[in-house]
This record gives sequence, C-alpha cells and structure tokens, in this order.
Amino acid sequence: MGGKLIVFEGIEGCGKTTQLQRSCQWLTEQLGIEVISTREPGGTKLGTEIRQLLLHGEDAVCDRTELLLYAADRAQHVEGFLRPHLEKGAWILCDRYTDSTIAYQGYGRGLDLELIDQLNQIATGGLQSDLTLWLDISVEVGLDRMQKRGKSDRIEQASLDFHHRVRAGFAAIAQRDCDRVVRIEASGSEDAVEERMKRALSQAMSRWGLNC
Ligand code: TMP
Repeated sequence: MGGKLIVFEGIEGCGKTTQLQRSCQWLTEQLGIEVISTREPGGTKLGTEIRQLLLHGEDAVCDRTELLLYAADRAQHVEGFLRPHLEKGAWILCDRYTDSTIAYQGYGRGLDLELIDQLNQIATGGLQSDLTLWLDISVEVGLDRMQKRGKSDRIEQASLDFHHRVRAGFAAIAQRDCDRVVRIEASGSEDAVEERMKRALSQAMSRWGLNC
C-alpha cells in the first residue's frame, strides 16, 4: 500500500486538531497500519522553534517575514519528515499545510497569491496532499471556542476581518481545487463532525481502491 498525505485545514476553533486525533485512531483500526500525525508549523525540531517564534515570540513579525518563516518550516518538514515517511508507505495526517499559507498570508494578510504559490512550490518540491479536509465553521463560532479555551496566540489575536478573509480564502481554494479539497461542516458535536470525517475518508479510500 502506497503512502498518503491527508491534510486537515480550517480557521481558528474549527476543531481540526481533535478531529485529526479521532481520524488517526479510526484509520489505524481500518487499515491495520500505523498512521502518523504531524503539524505545521512545528512538525520537526527546527519547526518547533520556528512555531515558537511565529506564534509566541516577543517581536512583532512583519508579513513577509511571517510568510518566509512558514515556508522555512514547511521545507524542513517536507524534506526531513514527510517525504521519508511517505516513501516508506506511511499514511500521514498533517494539521495544516500549503492551503493555510494561501488562506492566512494570501487572503488574510493580502500578500501576492502568485508569489505564495511559487514559495509553496519551493518549500514542498511539488509534494501535494492526496486529500485535504477543510473543516468549515463560522468565524464567530470558531473564535468563541478559542476564547473559551483561554490564552490566544499572535494570529488568533488578529482582527475579525482578518479571520473572515481567511475563511473566504479556504472557500476559494475548495472551489478551485474540488478534487483534492473536501469541505466538512464543522458545526455541531464532535461526534457528529467525526461521522462526517469518516464519510469523507471512506469515499477517498474507495477512490484509491481501498475498502473499509
Ligand atoms: P494551529 O496549528 O494551532 O492552528 O496554529 C497555527 C497558526 O499558524 C494558525 O493561526 C494558522 C497559522 N498558519 C499560517 O498563518 N500560515 C501557515 O502556513 C500555517 C501552516 C499556519
């Protein structure tokens, strides 16, 4: 069985991290193989330091610096972690990937989308997800969930308008790339969302010739 890269995307508070853990457990049971989970930024040792600088550093981070740091984290992650595991046939669930840069730095910060595509290409060497699950929730519900969790990081503290632009960015990506990106309604209980995730994963697996 060949390796697969499945990415979980969405705005703050969409529940992707919880759903990724649940999908990881379910897929492990279905496939009978170890399914690996990772994240961006922070999927490598260097990436963990980049994540700290990006989200919790004391200095203000300029928009282009932010873009380059996410790209640097990704380059290290692809080369040092994703590719080696995929080549060994691993199934990897990744919390955020290239579409987050398009949505946050492109649509959110307003940086040039073509430049971001080029940078994503450099950082990934062309490695795309096999499937991206976009957990879509309203900005108000997502941010409310984050506030209830307590302390927020630098990006979570950005303006409401910024988060609306990010969500619109994910919507545009899903419309443009509908074969790869699947929208999952992320409102409702964790159990209800998990059922929707399982349905989307099962559909993808049958497209890949796997039954579950
Ligand atoms: P999270 O993984 O806990 O959601 O936090 C990562 C934060 O970094 C989140 O606010 C989204 C942001 N981010 C970007 O702005 N661009 C990117 O390319 C990635 C991977 C994340």
